[in-house]
Amino acid sequence: MSRLSGKIAVVVGGHDGIGGAIAQRFAVEGATVYATSRRADGSDIAYGAGSVRARRVDASDAEALAAFFAAVQREAGRVDVLAVSAGISEFSTLDGVSEDHFDRHFGLNVRALLFATKAATAIMPDGGSVVLVGSIADEIGTKGYGVYGATKAAVRSFARTWANELAPRSIRVNVVAPGPTDTAMFAAASDEVRETLTQLIPLGRMGRADEVAAAALFLASDEASYITGAELPVDGGMAQV
Ligand SMILES: NC(=O)c1ccc[n+]([C@@H]2O[C@H](COP(=O)([O-])OP(=O)(O)OC[C@H]3O[C@@H](n4cnc5c(N)ncnc54)[C@H](OP(=O)(O)O)[C@@H]3O)[C@@H](O)[C@H]2O)c1
Repeated sequence: MSRLSGKIAVVVGGHDGIGGAIAQRFAVEGATVYATSRRADGSDIAYGAGSVRARRVDASDAEALAAFFAAVQREAGRVDVLAVSAGISEFSTLDGVSEDHFDRHFGLNVRALLFATKAATAIMPDGGSVVLVGSIADEIGTKGYGVYGATKAAVRSFARTWANELAPRSIRVNVVAPGPTDTAMFAAASDEVRETLTQLIPLGRMGRADEVAAAALFLASDEASYITGAELPVDGGMAQV
């Protein structure tokens, strides 16, 4: 039996990378998945028992996001599962940080995540599930990633509060927290950076997007029916041991 059979899911930032892997995995498990991104082509592609409906939405544009959720409500009537993955991560130490750097990170990683979750949970039936993509950067203090890490600490905090607020409706809210994962976010990194990072990971390699998607699927599904307000690291042990 597919784990998300008949469910309507939304993946914000679901074109490629971790969000893309989550969208495909949710579809394979039977969900009809609306996957948003700025490059989406409007296609509707079957994966296993479900499908991925690619919709072009810039999540940091609040009006576009609201219009998207209104369209999902018209088409599908509800959102059973929400995953929010859209995020940016750019380098800046404290001495060089700009207002633009701050605004772009908080505008997408925090503000868009907040209003996407507000809109989705407004049309989510009791028993639904929210999975937020955080990062182990919220607790390890990597030099040059202070603003990024602060956005992910906000995500962690939101999950705790929303788990509490939505518990009366049996809606669960959890965070999946990847460590270094081989996506476009890391494609530009030099071999040296990748090697240095890998040495810090007990399992000795970077993660794959499908490994993060497997954790997101677990949290989204009924197999995690008694888990809410939690953060599940998928980091090869990097921030755990
Ligand atoms: N990769 C890692 O090592 C790592 C580690 C820890 C946490 N994370 C977190 O995992 C999440 C996904 O990262 P990733 O590595 O998969 O990144 P990625 O490869 O850059 O993919 C990001 C995805 O989000 C979409 N996106 C970006 N900006 C968007 C916007 N304004 N509106 C809608 N969609 C948008 C992109 O599509 P478009 O460009 O078409 O919009 C793309 O599909 C992020 O929250 C990141 O912080 C990643």
